[in-house]
Amino acid sequence: MIAVENQAPVSENAIPKDASGGFVVPESNAFGQSFRDYESSVRLSIVENCYRLNHINQTYDFVKKTREEYAKLNKAEMSIWEAIELLDSFVDESDPDIDEPQIQHLLQSAEAIRKDYPNEDWLHLTALIHDLGKVLFHSKFGSLPQWAVTGDTYPVGCAYDESIVYHKYFKENPDYNNPAYNTKLGIYSEGCGLDNVLMTWGHDDYMYMVAKANGTTLPSAALFTIRYHSFYPMHTAGAYQYLMNEEDRKNLKWLQTFNKYDLYSKSSVHIDVEKVKPYYESLIKKVLLPRKAQMVILEVGRHTALRERIRL
Ligand SMILES: [Fe+2]
Ligand SMILES: [Fe+2]
Repeated sequence: MIAVENQAPVSENAIPKDASGGFVVPESNAFGQSFRDYESSVRLSIVENCYRLNHINQTYDFVKKTREEYAKLNKAEMSIWEAIELLDSFVDESDPDIDEPQIQHLLQSAEAIRKDYPNEDWLHLTALIHDLGKVLFHSKFGSLPQWAVTGDTYPVGCAYDESIVYHKYFKENPDYNNPAYNTKLGIYSEGCGLDNVLMTWGHDDYMYMVAKANGTTLPSAALFTIRYHSFYPMHTAGAYQYLMNEEDRKNLKWLQTFNKYDLYSKSSVHIDVEKVKPYYESLIKKVLLPRKAQMVILEVGRHTALRERIRL
């Protein structure tokens, strides 16, 4: 086992494998079309409008201010299952492949990855919680619009890569013509590492922040996967490599493995929630917050107020 201080172990022989070795990749999504098909999806106009608003409004200033506001973690407190249930009424408008409630997507991803990687329980839990940041839609978390919660993510503060979907709408973003932000590196330096890069605001970064603040023991690959799973220009198109460092490249392999399950599990297979719940509840206890002391510090410390946290 590879021991990472305060983190769940990743098995040494657990090498991310090609999905063809286990998971059966379906050829079409729940609508009988290719996945991420932005040209013939029946929900095309909704999806396109969501991206138009995203590309116009996700300026560097908007991201910086919003991230600072949500970093206070002062919106609500709930358990993992309460958050999962809260998501049940939302449909992701940016996604051309799914119009089902989120709980089924979370469980389909987690169960598919569990089948192929039975010993990597951290990966099962990563799949279960990867989209929980979508609670940002809820009034308790500020009722953010779709363009500030879902959709592909990308860096702000440097040029928008051509691979970003619906790139044409960036022309209406004020940063597009700002010389400080519209060069290849913009405000960043070569190999600075994604941790130093400001990404468009959405559910990925938010869930990463919540997990970190709650003292999770999930390994670095899990946190990377949660934080960048919508960063399609990087993990699928291969863009922005010049901003990455060695650790990013190492974690990317796990993210790419995870992505196949995140994407292709969007099908009509229905998971019996009550049947699988005990397994995931045991994982939540084991991996998410094993240090009770941390909880006490959060409760009596000066930041106590109300802090989004994941309860045991
Ligand atoms: Fe997501
Ligand atoms: Fe997802």
